[in-house]
Amino acid sequence: MNNSSEQNEKILQAIEVCKTYKDVKNPLQVLRETAMYINRGELLGIIGASGVGKSTLLHILGGLDKPDNGRVLFNDKDIYAQTPEFLDQFRNKNIGFVFQFFNLLPEFNVLENVLFPSLIGNRDKTKATERAKMLLNEVGLIGRLDHKPGELSGGETQRVALARALINEPNMVLADEPTGNLDSKSSDKLLDLIRELNKKTGQTFVIVTHSHKIARSLDRVLELADGKINKVENDL
Ligand SMILES: Nc1ncnc2c1ncn2[C@@H]1O[C@H](COP(=O)(O)OP(=O)(O)OP(=O)(O)O)[C@@H](O)[C@H]1O
Ligand SMILES: [Mg+2]
Repeated sequence: MNNSSEQNEKILQAIEVCKTYKDVKNPLQVLRETAMYINRGELLGIIGASGVGKSTLLHILGGLDKPDNGRVLFNDKDIYAQTPEFLDQFRNKNIGFVFQFFNLLPEFNVLENVLFPSLIGNRDKTKATERAKMLLNEVGLIGRLDHKPGELSGGETQRVALARALINEPNMVLADEPTGNLDSKSSDKLLDLIRELNKKTGQTFVIVTHSHKIARSLDRVLELADGKINKVENDL
């Protein structure tokens, strides 16, 4: 948590973001001029009913899915109005993404999966390998380096996905249900790790969760409902 005035520096901002899924029989309008911002260094929670559009919003914030309308501002620049190279760099340098369904590469082992974003970013391999092992140790998986994703439990897979999101030391980690498959003890441990990283490195975390207990423990919580974002006061 960051209590200084820096807390009010917006690291990312969504302005009037609209998204409709059109490749279905009945077009589905998910985001309706959705507006929100993320403060640098905060732990931000996003809650909302299943199917309301939380993953869609997170993908749009992370440069993975272009909105139909509206803007996503990073350093006052609309990330979707830049070149594809800019967008690639934005993602690789600034964003660590924990996908709801993990998206690990099935034919690569745990260590290789965690290293993958560092290879795309052309980083020093020896240093990246050291960091990958340190992160896998932190999430309790140093004994699983050679396992393929198919040889892991759901919770272990989720923890590998978090380590992968952290490998490039991103400013911002966007985590879609990072504790969804974990028992409460492992979930608490993962949250403790996130809090520790946040304190130590000032990294910003956006956490989509169905758990009100987790949401309550974060700095700020937003709720997505009917395509709009509402601020949630401390009454979860
Ligand atoms: N590629 C797609 N094509 C058509 N509809 C989609 C697509 N992706 C998502 N949807 C629909 O858009 C809505 C929002 O999906 P999204 O995955 O963003 O919800 P969510 O809030 O993350 O839900 P959950 O809490 O269950 O993960 C859902 O009703 C879903 O069925
Ligand atoms: Mg989702």
